[in-house]
Amino acid sequence: MAEPRALTVAQPASGGPAPQGEPTSVFLRACRGLPTERTPVWLMRQAGRYMPEYRALRERHGMLELIRTPELAAEVTLQPIEAFGFDAAIVFSDILPPLVGMGLELDFVRGEGPHIANPIGRPYDVDLLGTPPAEETMQGTLEAIRIVSRELAPRDVPVIGFAGAPFTLASYAIEGGATKDFARTKAFMLSEPAAWQRLMTKLVTVQADYLVAQAEAGAAALQVFDSWAGRALGRSDYVRLVKPYNTRLFEAVRRAGVPVVNFSLGVGAYLEEAVACGGDVIGVDWQLPLVTAWARIGHDRPVQGNLDPTALLAPWRGLRPRIDEVLDGAAGRSGHVFNVGHGVLPSTPVESVRRLVEYVRERTSRSQEGA
Ligand code: CP3
Repeated sequence: MAEPRALTVAQPASGGPAPQGEPTSVFLRACRGLPTERTPVWLMRQAGRYMPEYRALRERHGMLELIRTPELAAEVTLQPIEAFGFDAAIVFSDILPPLVGMGLELDFVRGEGPHIANPIGRPYDVDLLGTPPAEETMQGTLEAIRIVSRELAPRDVPVIGFAGAPFTLASYAIEGGATKDFARTKAFMLSEPAAWQRLMTKLVTVQADYLVAQAEAGAAALQVFDSWAGRALGRSDYVRLVKPYNTRLFEAVRRAGVPVVNFSLGVGAYLEEAVACGGDVIGVDWQLPLVTAWARIGHDRPVQGNLDPTALLAPWRGLRPRIDEVLDGAAGRSGHVFNVGHGVLPSTPVESVRRLVEYVRERTSRSQEGA
């Protein structure tokens, strides 16, 4: 069934220009549920260790140095666009650097991932956290967005800015690094409710400001990553202790005036609650079939996803049916952005990424011509 909004607009595929005020890029059109000449495709973590170009730069520069040097961050952002022709570029950064401006000492330790030297342990630590504006603390990323959006404008490839959701950031701030059980985070959340509220409120303030600043710098879309709330929490804790803050964040970011993707990993048990927090587009993780997830989300809301990133480790005969499953689940509806259902893994063969992009393009162009 065609989307109601789709009936009133011209298809650029038919040769006519997009009506005034409508975006022309396939990615931004899909984010608004508008018809596209083919399904747009980009991949979470599309810039990174699976690419030899990235590894070569990373040999010579630290992670934070790459992020904070606008020319280097811009170069890494563009690497996968040049190599594979993705339909959107996500600015090269990470969700954790904004914590540095708040007073946390972050480092990326080779082979171990992120590490915070002074994690939050007591309620008082929360009161020591600052909430400085992104213009002061994240200039490198804002400048990288300016550079990349200027570079990609002639190709009509939009730049995506991003930030972490408050629970995911709080978990790093409290655990000091990766965790399997979120024991410290949950103990703090449940034993210090007032400090939890202050911490989440500060994180919402900083992330909302950062996201809006990225849009002002030229990001044409924004994505919020809530990687760990769904892994860590049952429904009632999510609804009580996370949902109000995510809702506030999405509400505050509406003033940016660009589409916002809500990517909440592992929330299949309470997808409707995560969707209700907000976001124009719902990022679907790899655990539910897309057809099921989209029906639960509602077909009036655009979706992004949701290939299991480990499928990219399989040979083509194993990978192709998994791509088909996602495209079949989307059933040619407007408002689907093809993506992985969590970040691309470092061991992913470059050739698999290349083939994936070509295949999604080819299959979805053909099916619309035949329609
Ligand atoms: O998508 C992109 O290409 C943009 C860049 C990006 C990175 N991290 C670069 C990165 C984005 C969007 C992120 C998001 C991020 N970072 C999330 C949310 C998404 C998710 O995967 O759930 C989270 C939880 C983090 C925190 C983080 N950063 C971890 C746990 C690690 C170490 C393990 C890992 O997955 O790499 C990082 C480091 C990191 N962030 C690297 C890159 C390219 C590797 C750094 C290196 O070269 O050593």
